[in-house]
Amino acid sequence: MKSDLIWMDGELKPYEQATVHFLSPSLHYGVAVFEGIRCYQTPRGPAVFRLREHLQRFVESIHILGIQDFPYSVEMLRQAVFDTIKANHFNECYIRPLMYLKGPLGLNLDNSRPCVGIAAWEWGPYLGEEAKRTGVNMMVSSFTRLHPNINMTKSKVAGNYVNSLLVKTLALRSGYEEAVILNANGFVAECTGENLFMVRRGVIYTPPLSTVLEGITRDSILALAADLGLPTREAMITRDQLYIADEVFISGTAAEIVGVRAIDTRKIGEGKPGPITCALSEAFTAVIHGEGSRSTEWLDFVH
Ligand SMILES: Cc1ncc(COP(=O)(O)O)c(C=O)c1O
Repeated sequence: MKSDLIWMDGELKPYEQATVHFLSPSLHYGVAVFEGIRCYQTPRGPAVFRLREHLQRFVESIHILGIQDFPYSVEMLRQAVFDTIKANHFNECYIRPLMYLKGPLGLNLDNSRPCVGIAAWEWGPYLGEEAKRTGVNMMVSSFTRLHPNINMTKSKVAGNYVNSLLVKTLALRSGYEEAVILNANGFVAECTGENLFMVRRGVIYTPPLSTVLEGITRDSILALAADLGLPTREAMITRDQLYIADEVFISGTAAEIVGVRAIDTRKIGEGKPGPITCALSEAFTAVIHGEGSRSTEWLDFVH
């Protein structure tokens, strides 16, 4: 996660100097907001995937948290992301903007000032190349996903990710690679940092947006499925529907598209990424590297 320079409120600071004070309310109460974005190598140089949509979600997350007078527009942040990539001479990287608070320690948001840092680093697929080939082994977590009237499920607030961390750590210690998290009503919500899809008799299903993050990869998959003539539906899904699915796959900026080979020791389909998962993953990989009409729509070129 190393880079030469990190953008901190308009200044490109050397990595070691990009620090935040111990008494920041963000550290004590989890009141920070982040994004995860990827820049890919294309024949026309590095390009950021759906940058404006990510930054729009960043600004909306901050709005949901209740920050007033946030001083940055999407366009200002877009320029800052480009400056960060260029300053570090990256062709492909993961980009992490973070809004954090400066001000006296306390629970009154109005006493603090929002600040923004943007880091970038070279980073392969989050769950690894092998997982993309074989699919991941998952469990259904005993932890419940965020309740929309407690945690603000449409906002990437740092504190929300304590739930993700509990789920992920338990999954890894139990010998699984990821976990399905059910919502407060017992239906499938999402994973620790990914949305979830299942395929049954040729139809692709994904949970509605009610209690999950509006994933940008999720949205891209729904569009690519339509382009490929594959029917999609948003529907409530139960854990046993996953057990008998022909295919299950998960999606996110960090992980990209990854098939699921088993859930709770039940083999999913053939126990490897299925044909629809592979078709969508191939279409996605082509777009992020600059091929096809969607790439013109979705890629934002750095130079
Ligand atoms: C909880 C959660 N769900 C889903 C996603 C996938 O969203 P995206 O595809 O925009 O990265 C993420 C990652 O940002 C996430 O943190």
